Amino acid sequence: MSQKPHVAVVGATGAVGIEMIKTLEKRQFPVGKLTLLASARSTGKRLTFRGETITVKELTKDAFEGVDIALFSAGGGISKEFAPIAVKAGCVVVDNSSAFRMDDTVPLVIPEINAGDVKLHRGIIANPNCTTAVALMALYPLHQAFGVTRIFASSYQAVSGTGAKAIEELKRQVDQTVKGQPITKEVYPHQIAFNVLPHVDSFLADGYTKEEMKMQNEGRKIMHHPGFRASVTCVRVPVYRAHSVAISAEFERPVTVEAARAVLKKAPGLQVIDEPAKNLYPQPLFMAEQDDCAVGRLRRDCALENGLAFWVSGDQLLKGAALNAVQIAEELLKLPTGKTSSRKQAEPALTA
Ligand SMILES: NC(=O)c1ccc[n+]([C@@H]2O[C@H](COP(=O)([O-])OP(=O)(O)OC[C@H]3O[C@@H](n4cnc5c(N)ncnc54)[C@H](OP(=O)(O)O)[C@@H]3O)[C@@H](O)[C@H]2O)c1
Repeated sequence: MSQKPHVAVVGATGAVGIEMIKTLEKRQFPVGKLTLLASARSTGKRLTFRGETITVKELTKDAFEGVDIALFSAGGGISKEFAPIAVKAGCVVVDNSSAFRMDDTVPLVIPEINAGDVKLHRGIIANPNCTTAVALMALYPLHQAFGVTRIFASSYQAVSGTGAKAIEELKRQVDQTVKGQPITKEVYPHQIAFNVLPHVDSFLADGYTKEEMKMQNEGRKIMHHPGFRASVTCVRVPVYRAHSVAISAEFERPVTVEAARAVLKKAPGLQVIDEPAKNLYPQPLFMAEQDDCAVGRLRRDCALENGLAFWVSGDQLLKGAALNAVQIAEELLKLPTGKTSSRKQAEPALTA
């Protein structure tokens, strides 16, 4: 692959796509050419990259000719249909949807945790679920030090996690409430303004939602820890941007707050904000637009053996999506020539 690759962003006009364009620019990713793709609705729309205006094109089957890396964020259906087409055209796909995350032949990567899995790709690399990514940024370093066995967690997920239309829905409902007008709903089944919904993604037969099970399933694959267990309640909150997760984790080995803090302070991509006496702890309002996630409220969990309770916040549009995807693309550029192209496909299957 060229060290100045031709990059395509699929879903360029969406909440994640816009952040991908900004992140490519901010991190000075060596883009040789940028192609922006979305639905026919957006054809002709103009977006800016490095001071240049780029016209959005419609995603079609021949859109990937000459493209080296395609960052997909247009939903699972689009990924399932177009990622194999892009791979056939010689592209490496970094996919933000859940379409391929649990596929044994597709690496699922958070570069701070398992960057080495990137080289096992056969054309597609998956980006993890946004809540899982934010939680693992703090949990994985603790796992390395103390060996996590299981967690109990609740998430506080921002509306931007549902995409651009959900941001508009919260704005509109706040405005309608202030003006005393009837509330209109298009995205969520209930009012989200001034409310919380214990409901993210669809319900499974056992009562958990699909989103809730991603923490265990994706956590196992990313941490290479098949025995990891996670009981999670995912909650949508009227926050525009940045997800938070309250976690109680149980470890194999004894853990103290001091030892955990020392581990977390050294963890890449993570800040420790933990001075309760000064009312200092991570807050989504201030984590929005930050590359790093943050952890705080560290305390010994009083209901678990070798347990630690903590709170993590992070911008899910960045670490949970666009930033992580661009970091994966950066890892691709570090691979020896021949491993970067989807045209070479001789690696063994991945296991969790
Ligand atoms: N939001 C997050 O925090 C987050 C985090 C991690 C992963 N993800 C995943 O990223 C993906 C996108 O999420 P989002 O939040 O950015 O959604 P979004 O704001 O609704 O954006 C969707 C994007 O997909 C495009 N699109 C829709 N239908 C299309 C079609 N038929 N052909 C081509 N493009 C089409 C849209 O183009 P138009 O503007 O032309 O409609 C838009 O650019 C989803 O798979 C989501 O699960 C999102």
